[in-house]
Amino acid sequence: MSLDLAPFKALIYNHCGLVLEGIAEDRLNKALNQAVIRLGCRDLNDYFRLLENTPEQFEQLISALTVNETYFFREPDQIALFTNQLIPRLLARQSRRPLRILSAGCSSGEEPYSLAMALDTVYGEQRRQLFKIDAGDVDRQVLSKARQGIYSAFSFRSMDPVLQQRYFRPIQRNYQLVDEIRQSINFLPLNLKAPLPPQGLEGYDLIFCRNVSIYFDPETRQMIHRRFHDVLNENGILLLGSSETLGNDLGVFELVEEHGHYYFIKGEAYRPPSSQAVSWSSLHSASTAVQLGKESLCDPEPSARVAPDAVTPALLNLPPLDSIRQLVQEGEREKASELLDRHLRVQNQPVAMGVLLLKSWLLLNQRAFHDADGLLDQVLHEDPWSVDGLLLKGLNAKWQNRLQEACDWFRKVTYTCPECWPAHYYLAETYRIQGHDAAAIKAYQVIRRILSNDKHAADGMLWVPLPLPRGDILFLSERHLLKLKQNTQLSDKGEG
Ligand SMILES: C[S@@+](CC[C@H](N)C(=O)[O-])C[C@H]1O[C@@H](n2cnc3c(N)ncnc32)[C@H](O)[C@@H]1O
Repeated sequence: MSLDLAPFKALIYNHCGLVLEGIAEDRLNKALNQAVIRLGCRDLNDYFRLLENTPEQFEQLISALTVNETYFFREPDQIALFTNQLIPRLLARQSRRPLRILSAGCSSGEEPYSLAMALDTVYGEQRRQLFKIDAGDVDRQVLSKARQGIYSAFSFRSMDPVLQQRYFRPIQRNYQLVDEIRQSINFLPLNLKAPLPPQGLEGYDLIFCRNVSIYFDPETRQMIHRRFHDVLNENGILLLGSSETLGNDLGVFELVEEHGHYYFIKGEAYRPPSSQAVSWSSLHSASTAVQLGKESLCDPEPSARVAPDAVTPALLNLPPLDSIRQLVQEGEREKASELLDRHLRVQNQPVAMGVLLLKSWLLLNQRAFHDADGLLDQVLHEDPWSVDGLLLKGLNAKWQNRLQEACDWFRKVTYTCPECWPAHYYLAETYRIQGHDAAAIKAYQVIRRILSNDKHAADGMLWVPLPLPRGDILFLSERHLLKLKQNTQLSDKGEG
C-alpha cells in the first residue's frame, strides 16, 4: 500500500527528533504496516488517531523506529581516555562527590555498564562513593532490557574475555551481568528533544552521548548540545562517538583534541595543553548520517561478479540480499547475521558473494578472525579481484597486528581499484603505525586527491558498508599529512 507518511514523520520528529528519511523511511513504512494489521485499524488515519490518544501505542511505535545497535566497550580507546585521563583529572580538581556521569541514548545498557566495569577495574569498592552513573533512552522497551542485564554473545564482540568472565554469569545461552554492577546504574526514560529534562537530570561532570546524533538534523543536534551545556557542571565534559564528534562542532562547546581523540569541554579547566582541534564546521557541512545507495566506481556490472543466486530469496523466505546489507549498514548486526546464517545453511546451492562478504564483515567485527578468513578465501577463490574481499583480508590481518601482510592486501586493492579510498586510508594508517612516513604521506595524499575533488566519491566497495564517514577521513588525512610532513622536515634538519 502507498502510505502518506508525512503526518507520522512530523509527529515523531516533534516528539523525539528522529529524522525518518532514506533507510529510516523504509523502517517507518514497515512499522506502520505492521501496526495497522496488528491493531486491526481500518486505515492509517484510524491508526494516527489511536497514536494520539494511546501513549502505550506511541511508545511502541517509537521503539520500532529507534536503532539500538550497541555493544560492550564500543570504541575502547575512548573508554580508556575516560578512565585513564578524564576521570583522574576530574577527581583531582573536583571536591564534590560522587562525580556524576550520564550516558544519554544508552540503548540496552552496554555503554553505561562498560563505564561502570572500567571504573570498577581501577577503583574497586571505592567506585560506589566516587561515581554515580545515570543512563537514559527514549525507547522504554530497550531500557527494560538494560535493567535486566542479560546479553547474547553479540554484545561482547569488543570486550576482553577476561572482563567478560569476571563480570558475567552464563544464563541459558546468554550472559547476565553481576548484580553489583547492574545495580550501580540508574536507568531512566529520557527524551533529549523534550522541552524539559526529567527532574534531577543536572549537575553532571561528564556526559556520553555516542552514536545518537546521526539520527537528528542540525537544529536538533544544536538544541541538544545547549541542553547538555545547561545540565553539565562548570568545566564539564561531553563525549560523542569518535566518528560524530568533528561533525558536531556546533559552536556550543569548545572542541578539543588529546592524542587523536576529540571531545567537547565547557569552561577551560580541562583543555588539554596540546589540543590541536580546529573548527570543523567549515570543512564538513553534510551530516554524518549513513549514506544511502552506492554506485561502485570499479565495478560497473556488479551482478557479473556475484555468484548466481540459484535459490531465490522468495523460495528461502528470506529478504533480498540488499535489505540484509541495509540492516548491516543500519547497525542491526544481530538480525543481519541470523539471516545470513540461514542463507549459508542452504545445501547444494552456490552461495551469493554478498552473503559471504557481509557475513565475513560481521565475523571480523566479532573478532572471529579465523571464521572470517575461511569465508574470504571462498570469495577470492570465486573472484580473485573482489575489492571487498581483498580489503577485508587486509583488515583481518591488520586487526591481528600482521601489519606487513595487511599492507600487501591493501596495496592489491589499490591496484585493482585505484579509487577505493578506504583501502588508501587503511594503507596510510598501517604505514604510519609502522613508521614508514614517506609511504604514509603518499597514501594520505591520494585520499586527499580523491575526496577533495568529490566529497561523495564512491568507495569501490560492492557489498560491505564500511563505517568510514568521508568528511572525517578527509579531515584526519589532512591532519596526519601535516604532522608527518613536520616529522620529515625535523628529521631532514637533524641529518643536515
Ligand atoms: C545506536 S544507539 C547508541 C547506543 C550507545 N550510546 C552506543 O554508542 O553504543 C542510539 C540510541 O539513541 C536513542 N535515542 C534516539 N533518539 C533519542 C532521543 N530523542 N532521546 C534519547 N535517546 C534517543 C535510541 O533509542 C538508541 O537506543
